[in-house]
Amino acid sequence: MVAPMNRFRTKCQSILTNHLRYCLTRELSTYRVLNKGVVLGVYQPKNKNEDLILDKATQFYNDKTGGKVGQLLKVAGKDLKKGGCRILYDVVPGFDSVAVCCIGKQGTSYNENECYDEGLENIRAAVAAGVRNLRSVGENDVMVDPCGNAEAAAEGSYLGLYEYDELKDKEKRKKTVKLSCLTEHLSGSSSVQKVWSQGQIKADGQNWARKLMEMPSNKLTPRLFVEEVQRKFNNRPNVTVTVRDKAWIQSENMNAFLAVSQGSSEEPYFLHIEYKHPDSNMSSPVAIVGKGITFDTGGISIKPSAGMDLMRADMGGAACTVGSVYSLDRLNSPVHVHAFIPLCENMPGGRAIKPGDVVTARNGKTIQIDNTDAEGRLILADALNYCESIKPQLILDMATLTGAIDVALGSGAAGAYATSTNTWEMLQKAGSTTGDRLWRMPLFNHYTKQVTVSQLADVNNIGAHARSGGSCTAAAFLKEFVTNKNWVHLDIAGVMSNKDEVPYLNKGMAGRPTRTVVEFVQLLGKSQS
Ligand code: BES
Ligand code: ZN
Ligand code: ZN
Repeated sequence: MVAPMNRFRTKCQSILTNHLRYCLTRELSTYRVLNKGVVLGVYQPKNKNEDLILDKATQFYNDKTGGKVGQLLKVAGKDLKKGGCRILYDVVPGFDSVAVCCIGKQGTSYNENECYDEGLENIRAAVAAGVRNLRSVGENDVMVDPCGNAEAAAEGSYLGLYEYDELKDKEKRKKTVKLSCLTEHLSGSSSVQKVWSQGQIKADGQNWARKLMEMPSNKLTPRLFVEEVQRKFNNRPNVTVTVRDKAWIQSENMNAFLAVSQGSSEEPYFLHIEYKHPDSNMSSPVAIVGKGITFDTGGISIKPSAGMDLMRADMGGAACTVGSVYSLDRLNSPVHVHAFIPLCENMPGGRAIKPGDVVTARNGKTIQIDNTDAEGRLILADALNYCESIKPQLILDMATLTGAIDVALGSGAAGAYATSTNTWEMLQKAGSTTGDRLWRMPLFNHYTKQVTVSQLADVNNIGAHARSGGSCTAAAFLKEFVTNKNWVHLDIAGVMSNKDEVPYLNKGMAGRPTRTVVEFVQLLGKSQS
């Protein structure tokens, strides 16, 4: 009886000592002000019940600690699934904690059914889980295992930590975390560092778009949007920002744009941003056009109040446009891009447009405005027509245009309407790399017929069968204002916000598909060099 009692006592003592040591470490770490953490990657075992497979960096630290990492993972790593993460304390010298994150099966690459590089998506998701967990245990200086692709690791890290909480009490805000790329296990590190910073720049562009989309409409009116953009591009030698006011918009006969803006007491603006690299490969520029409705009430065809707050993000096209230009500039991409952004509110004021009103667009076509909530296509009609003045090789527009695209595709992909199959293929390739996918939609004459019937005018703004194929009729409407042979329209209403679908984005506005557009413009540039 004595022996088992002693064994029991020893066991209890050992548990208690371990617990005390753990508490002390946590306690000390708050005083040590080290607050350093490291994210390390592991692959799923090939067969069930086998050990996790350590990646290069994890193996390096395992060797350095005499096999301690692997040992701890035998228990702590049980049932660790792809995208999951476990925190280990006091294992690797120099770090308070280690987040071991699971990057799925080794050798994962392009997945034909998913139409994306699954290996890269796995890295983004796993690393995001790692950095978030380290932040939640108080680390503020985190090194990240590049997990075989430093760009994806940087994207996952920076996108995963982003949250718009600057309007909250300081206490409630997420603490800032300094992120850097772990390279101690590599012989040459400078190229990996460079790839990491490219991923960071791409994530920064998307995070800026997320911020602009999330900002409440009283803090981001058309005027304030312009100021944010001016501030961001101030002192960038390859970027020129031109701000056009209402008088200029009038002088350009952008009456469809003006019609939408007239129900609000906020002045409309038209932003023109040029990014031209001195060594651009492009013989003619790319035009990017973004819908910039800073709030969409629906106007006189007013929206129901439930969920209307989300319409602060109805400038998502504009946000992703400036986010893309930001990334291209910081990446020092040898391309030439012009961005065009009509900015206004859609409000039901005393001077607002009313259903049945007719306006003459910049290209001379008359539009019967049957529904004032189909305003995006009105402001884009004039912007698309104006952008042709720079003779672009290609026009790409982005707009949170229809609820119908959300019904069709949800947040799986943005709808892409392309006049050129070559261009579509390049877009699809871009999306498969970034994981922020696009899906091709039809530009059939079938839909054009529905928008070119109108009692009073050349075109109507909702289509004859308003409820059916709503995203397709909206695209067909826009097509009436484009003459360029190479045009792509992205309906991004379905990918506007994130609940939990994209694991490396928090809940909130998504800034999609900024990285895909950046990738696409870069691919286009490379194809011309
Ligand atoms: N901004 C909305 C589209 C939207 C809906 C964006 C949901 C994001 C989430 C757009 O201006 C709109 O209201 N479209 C109408 C068009 C209809 C009146 C033909 C729509 O989709 O209901
Ligand atoms: Zn609307
Ligand atoms: Zn809208």
